[in-house]
Amino acid sequence: MAKYSDKKELLRKVIVALDVDSKQRALDLGQALAGSGCWVKVGLELYALTGLSLIEEFKQMGFKIFLDLKLHDIPNTVERTLKLLVRSGVDMVNVHCSGGYEMLARAAEVCHQAEKTIIGVTVLTSLGSEDLITIGMDGNAEQQALRLAKLAQKAGLDGVVASAQEAPILRQECGPDFLLVTPGIRPAWSAKDDQVRVLTPRKALDAGSSYLVVGRPITMAANPREALENLWD
Ligand code: C5P
Repeated sequence: MAKYSDKKELLRKVIVALDVDSKQRALDLGQALAGSGCWVKVGLELYALTGLSLIEEFKQMGFKIFLDLKLHDIPNTVERTLKLLVRSGVDMVNVHCSGGYEMLARAAEVCHQAEKTIIGVTVLTSLGSEDLITIGMDGNAEQQALRLAKLAQKAGLDGVVASAQEAPILRQECGPDFLLVTPGIRPAWSAKDDQVRVLTPRKALDAGSSYLVVGRPITMAANPREALENLWD
């Protein structure tokens, strides 16, 4: 942790998941967190509610924005959709690695032309070994995550979303510059909610995470700004 001694630098590695069902609530959270250095993540729920309009409002508040739509379709559809999404103020977008090499390569090209970061979803952490077998995989989530991360890297993506518990092997195999964006983060003082395999922010960074995705410990706190600033306690 020595290299992250500066708190501001730590906050730039936090992506706050704005999983809320009201535009006003999202804006209130934005106002509470503005100026801290953290990113915000707009996921499917908020996108369904507000489209890209909120993206511009967060941009004006000074946030970097991760648009987490996890695109998964044929290469042509993903490419054309990304061409539209990257016109907005987003900084980072994502696709499912299991869309295959051509989809990933075309997605990477569109995003890099627009100077946006693109990452791939490996294996959803909601899927256990038995779930993986039911969808035709061999049940080893770590091996599957590694296989997909390598494919994403070969296709030119900047990194992947993965469990922080997979971060050490992915960091080792994909090198120091490959982004590892990890959800399932819980500071010692917070409830686990429905996350099972959790790591504290410090442990996740030590495991090799580049960005920590944190939702409810911040968004459900009585004082979200204080919760953000206290993640490292
Ligand atoms: O509230 P919490 O910190 O659990 O939120 C985690 C965020 O990360 C949510 O937006 C969730 O959808 C997302 N996520 C996850 N596990 C994954 C991928 C994304 O928890 N494997």
